[in-house]
Amino acid sequence: MRVLVTGGAGFIGSHLVDFHLHRGDFVIAIDNFSAGRRENIESFLSHPRFRLIEGDVRLIDLQELISQSDRVYHMAALVGMKLVLSHPVEAFLSNIEMSAHVLQEVSISKNRPRVLIASSSCVYQCQDFAKEDDPLLSIPAGQYKQHMYALSKISSEAIADGYINQGLHCVIARPFNVIGPRQTGRYGMVVPNFIEQALRGDPITVYGDGKQTRAFCDVRDAVHAMHLSLEKEACKNQIVNIGYPQEISIYALAEKIKEKTKSSSPIVFVPYQEAYGMEFYDIQRRNPVIDHLQQWTGFVPQYGLEDTLDAIIDAEKKKRVL
Ligand SMILES: NC(=O)c1ccc[n+]([C@@H]2O[C@H](COP(=O)([O-])OP(=O)(O)OC[C@H]3O[C@@H](n4cnc5c(N)ncnc54)[C@H](O)[C@@H]3O)[C@@H](O)[C@H]2O)c1
Repeated sequence: MRVLVTGGAGFIGSHLVDFHLHRGDFVIAIDNFSAGRRENIESFLSHPRFRLIEGDVRLIDLQELISQSDRVYHMAALVGMKLVLSHPVEAFLSNIEMSAHVLQEVSISKNRPRVLIASSSCVYQCQDFAKEDDPLLSIPAGQYKQHMYALSKISSEAIADGYINQGLHCVIARPFNVIGPRQTGRYGMVVPNFIEQALRGDPITVYGDGKQTRAFCDVRDAVHAMHLSLEKEACKNQIVNIGYPQEISIYALAEKIKEKTKSSSPIVFVPYQEAYGMEFYDIQRRNPVIDHLQQWTGFVPQYGLEDTLDAIIDAEKKKRVL
């Protein structure tokens, strides 16, 4: 099979590349390295079935690449609360333009490969366990800045829906807090930040009161689930939650990471105002209902939080020795 991955040097994108190379597929990755890192794909560069196209998804000629592909994963996006808050309009427009461009190019291609686009769990209004037909985010007028990323994902879903109505085979994936090696803490992702702080002996900074909960999903499970969603006919033109409903509070996560890294770091609380430089509303609980994913694909998560944290800590420690 021939696979095209936009954002292929990013965290999830590079794991998708890895997954498909291991399956024996041919993989083309596109990335402009705005957030993705060369080290994420360094080991694939000499692989005979791998090709890297360096450039902006919006500007390169996708038609030729799509014509060589059976599957397209659209993962490229500006991601991470800190990145989006510092460039809200750019993130909003760029994410929408990329989705529109990829979907449009696939729709006018002769071969019309199947496409999976990465939406996000942040599109939900839900404070608890979210299922795919739950209501989407409702935002008080004037409070857009914090939600530009979510709005870009809702818009991308709407564009995908439009192309589905024109006959495209498209899966809209909504990942919930995917974690694993290669994820960067640079833009505010909690797990890599905590692990880096713990390994450096710096204070582990919990935003807010730490009682907010999240459900973390191992990237190996996430890419497997995405692949199954694209292959299984039952997922055709569906919205699919991608995650693992194992809920943990952010404070308990900090304690777990401190213990696993045997760190002497103190755990400190940082008000949202200080963390983000603005009033910030954090959702209290965010958990996926994955009944559809499981019924439609037979997917069963393989990696618990403990396994994933161990894998990330090991990878980080190895990087420090090199
Ligand atoms: N990581 C998560 O927990 C999570 C949760 C929900 C949704 N998602 C979605 O999954 C996808 C992948 O997320 P990730 O965590 O791997 O993020 P990431 O930042 O590691 O990956 C995104 C990649 O897109 C690239 N990119 C950005 N703009 C580009 C452009 N104009 N042209 C080419 N490349 C460009 C970046 O350089 C980066 O490599 C994103 O669409 C994200 O919104 C991720």
